[in-house]
Amino acid sequence: MKITSIEDLKRIKEEAQKRAFLREGKAEYKVTVHMGTCGIAAGARQVMAAILDEVAKRNLTNVLVTQAGCIGLCDREPIVSVEKGTERVLYGDLTPEKARQIVASHLVNGQIVGEWVVHTER
Ligand code: FES
Repeated sequence: MKITSIEDLKRIKEEAQKRAFLREGKAEYKVTVHMGTCGIAAGARQVMAAILDEVAKRNLTNVLVTQAGCIGLCDREPIVSVEKGTERVLYGDLTPEKARQIVASHLVNGQIVGEWVVHTER
């Protein structure tokens, strides 16, 4: 990209800061999709794709999306955990559609979707 104005420079700086923010682990929310064998069999990949797509569409820069292994709750897969500070909420029995609603409700509006919660830690 050719820099032709102060606005261009500002934009580039902002983009760099956003990326640094995520790298340094300062994201407000950390979303972990559990990708054990049974999670994948139950559709965890599609759930991950829906979350990434929704986060990108909404241009959320305060969310870090990552993946982890099995969490030991086979019958509730796909499972996603949402962490903010010391609070951790585990959602289970997810579908891509439910995952998108969690992004809209929990990550955008700070409202936990109670009916899909499997476990909460504070
Ligand atoms: S094998 Fe199912 S949760 Fe680990």
